Amino acid sequence: MDFFDVVSKRRSVRKYSDESVPIEDIKKMIEVATLAPSAHNTKPWRFVVIYNREVIKQLVNSVHKWMDEVLKSPELDDELKEHYNKFRPYFTFYENAPVVIVVCGEHFESIPGKAVSLAYPEKAKASKVNSLEQSVSAATQNLILAATALGYGSCWATGPLLAAEDMKKILNLPPEWEIFAIVPVGKPLKQAVPKKPQKFEEVAIVIE
Ligand SMILES: Cc1cc2nc3c(=O)[nH]c(=O)nc-3n(C[C@H](O)[C@H](O)[C@H](O)COP(=O)(O)O)c2cc1C
Repeated sequence: MDFFDVVSKRRSVRKYSDESVPIEDIKKMIEVATLAPSAHNTKPWRFVVIYNREVIKQLVNSVHKWMDEVLKSPELDDELKEHYNKFRPYFTFYENAPVVIVVCGEHFESIPGKAVSLAYPEKAKASKVNSLEQSVSAATQNLILAATALGYGSCWATGPLLAAEDMKKILNLPPEWEIFAIVPVGKPLKQAVPKKPQKFEEVAIVIE
């Protein structure tokens, strides 16, 4: 598939067939993900590939648990609670996905990061997190485009991350790994409609 076809065919797919996803295809997706650019070329992305149904179920349960906790808060009025609860399927839809990839980033310290953190700790904190998140996001985009090119559906999901701390425990992740996205992969139950790009004039300004 041509690059431009892959980009327009990529859609968020949340329902998958039972067909399994061979580890060879997952390896291809992750290796393509590692071709992404990264701040200071640190390649900070890390991936956890989960086929185990029980572990996937535990991740989903941790999201239900934290959504229920949010709903107990007296800070939310009934209307907001009802609206928030409607997002539940969007944060838990991967329960039956054949495979779930948890995309993580490993915290690192660069020389500019070290210099700024000594001079202005607050500025350094923000830029450190931003650059890690952006590098991992670049890899995540490569990953989901590779999934499309191989004929799979996927969905980049961050809503479930309200349970990130529980997920780190469930997956027994090293402390310096931060979870940035949940990406289920599987054969789409139905073919999604390719996207049309927004018009250049709507999203860009030109300074001549
Ligand atoms: C950073 C990010 C977080 C997202 N989080 C979720 C999520 O938690 N649950 C979900 O169902 N979709 C999630 N999505 C998918 C978006 O809803 C989707 O990309 C958007 O509606 C456009 O649809 P498309 O991907 O089919 O073009 C996320 C996408 C991005 C880029």
